[in-house]
Order: sequence, then C-alpha cells, then structure tokens
Amino acid sequence: MNKILVTGGAGYIGSHTIIELIENTNYTPISIDNFSRSHKSTLNRIKKLTNKDVLNYEVNLCDLEDVESVFKENTDIVGVIHFAAFKSVPESVSDPILYYDNNINSLLNILKCCDKYGVNNFIFSSSCSIYGNVEKLPVTENSPIGIPESPYGHTKIVGEEIIKNFVKTTSIKAMPLRYFNPVGAHISGLNGENSLDKPNNLVPFITQSAAGILGELTVFGNDYDTRDGSCIRDYVHVTDIANAHILALKHLIESSTSSSYAILNLGTGTGITVLEAIDSFKKVSGIDLKFKIGEKREGDVAAIYSDSSKAKELLGWECKYNIDDMMQSAWKWQQQLLKK
Ligand code: WQD
Repeated sequence: MNKILVTGGAGYIGSHTIIELIENTNYTPISIDNFSRSHKSTLNRIKKLTNKDVLNYEVNLCDLEDVESVFKENTDIVGVIHFAAFKSVPESVSDPILYYDNNINSLLNILKCCDKYGVNNFIFSSSCSIYGNVEKLPVTENSPIGIPESPYGHTKIVGEEIIKNFVKTTSIKAMPLRYFNPVGAHISGLNGENSLDKPNNLVPFITQSAAGILGELTVFGNDYDTRDGSCIRDYVHVTDIANAHILALKHLIESSTSSSYAILNLGTGTGITVLEAIDSFKKVSGIDLKFKIGEKREGDVAAIYSDSSKAKELLGWECKYNIDDMMQSAWKWQQQLLKK
C-alpha cells in the first residue's frame, strides 16, 4: 500500500490528519515523532478511533542518518506531510536558536531524503502568522508577507523559501498550507489538542479554565479597533484542516496538472472576536465562563482572517464546521481528558 510519511504524527494536527488518512484514503500513514512535544498515548487514541496501528519512528528529525533510515526501510512512501516543528510563539522569542535549529534542520533533512529517495509530493505546515499585521483583509496568498511576529513565524517564512527554491532543482511538487487558527477536537471527543506545555492559545485556555485546571481567563485587550474591541481571528476546525491535507495530497499525487509549488490559505474566511468565541463556548457548554479584561498581549494583531477561495477552487476544500462545533468538540475532548 502506498505510504504517506507524516512527521509529528502524534501532534495535534498530525494525529487528526492520520485519522482522516486512514478513514478516507487508501494510503497507509506512517509517522515520525520523538514525543518531544507530544504524547505517545495519542497513537493509542488513533488506534481506538480507527482500529489501526500506526507505525511510528521515534527518531529526531534533526539527525539525518536516523531520518534516512526511515526512508530506506519504507521505499513505498509516495508523499510527506511535514507537521513536526516547535510552535510556541513566546518560547521562540525566549529561545530563537532552539527554533531555528529544530525547525529548519528538520525541514532540510526531510527535503534531502525526499530528493534522494524519489518522494515527489511534499506538504508543508505553514502559518498565517507569516502575514503579521495586515493592512487589507481578508488575507489572500498574495498578501504581503509581514515582519515576522516571532522567530517561530520567521522559521515558517524561511521554510517556505527553502522549499520554493529547492523544488526548482528537483521533480518534487510542494504545497505549503498556511493555517489560520486551528482549534477544536475530533468530533467523537476521543482525540484533541494535548500539548505537553501550558497553553498559550485561546481555546485550550478556555476549556482548561472551564475545567478548573487553569485560573480565570484573561482577555488580552478589549480596546482594539474591532466591532467589540477584542481581537478578530479566523478559527478553523482541526478536522477541516486535516481534510485539506488529504485533498492537497491527492491533488499532488493524482492530478497531472498540479504545479510544482502552490501555496494555500486554510481558514473559514470568517473573522470571530475573542468575546464572540467566549460567547460560543458559553452557549454550547452551558458554562458561565468567567473572565477578566487584561492588557494587550505583545505581538497580537488586531484582526486577521483569510480568503481561502484558492483552496476551494484548486482542491474543492470546504469547511464543514462552525465556531459552535469547534467549541463543542473542544469541550467534549476536555471532559474526556478529565476522565483520565
Ligand atoms: C487568539 C486570540 C489573543 C489567549 C497563534 C500563533 C500562530 C498560530 C495560530 C501556529 C488573540 C486572545 C489568547 C488568552 C486571549 N499558530 N487570547 N487570552 O495568537 O492568533 O495565533 O495560533 O501556527 O502562530 O500565534 O492564537 O489562540 O494565542 O490567540 O485573549 O488566554 O485570543 O490575544 O487575540 P494567535 P491565540
């Protein structure tokens, strides 16, 4: 069976993508994940959900020899989805070398192996954070790339440039996917975001505050120039993001017209404010979530949301889930975690 190598397969978006690969394609996913930022138990949850064991190689992607051994052992890999990277904005600010070393070297090693072992379909996990503070909304793939908000965002900009220049010299076809704000959990509630470190992001903070794990939620600023003063983001369900990867992969592998390099935004196109997101959570959970208004968070942009019409036109990608579904699934997952 043709294999798809998913790096970061035990991670948030990686694990949801593996589930969709198993359930909706004839490809066999294999994973590389050293559990530096994820739980080994995530692979057990995939098994429970799909009844399939996923072969995972617990190797460091920054070790070229180890990465090569995976390609040598699996000569039927036809595509790679490269999720694995460190992704905490504040951590990247406090330790930039860690981020450049890990995120860039792991990418270089994967690309070298794709070229050496003839794996010609490559999907790269990129981010809307590369747009920075945008002048014109919604954001299209041609919107100017901003000054990176952090070394994390910079590794995504550099990563895209490396791939763009690299594919010109090979027969590899590559598609960086720029996620807006992936949130939510598998609709069954049996898989979700399970980061090793304290959440920086809004939705896991909401659910952990509601569960009594974290203290009161702070809304970072309510005097932005937006409809209710809080920041606007384009939240997109993690399963919608996962399905976009499946469509992108099929497009690269099965379409004879796919180009060697195409960037796609992945967002719903709908901007939601922080206060609206909180209201959605309160509505679907029935919990009167308490929060306080705090200072603006450094690096936050007032508003960003996508124009993802290119992904619709090229891949036929459409989002199935709205903000209420995202909050409902996130809360269902949090309650599962509480049962552990
Ligand atoms: C969303 C909004 C906060 C927490 C991040 C990364 C970005 C990308 C997507 C990977 C903001 C507000 C948050 C809280 C709050 N990740 N907030 N209280 O910053 O838009 O993007 O995830 O590619 O790189 O930066 O997401 O969830 O952190 O914040 O008020 O306790 O929620 O100010 O307006 P962000 P976020």
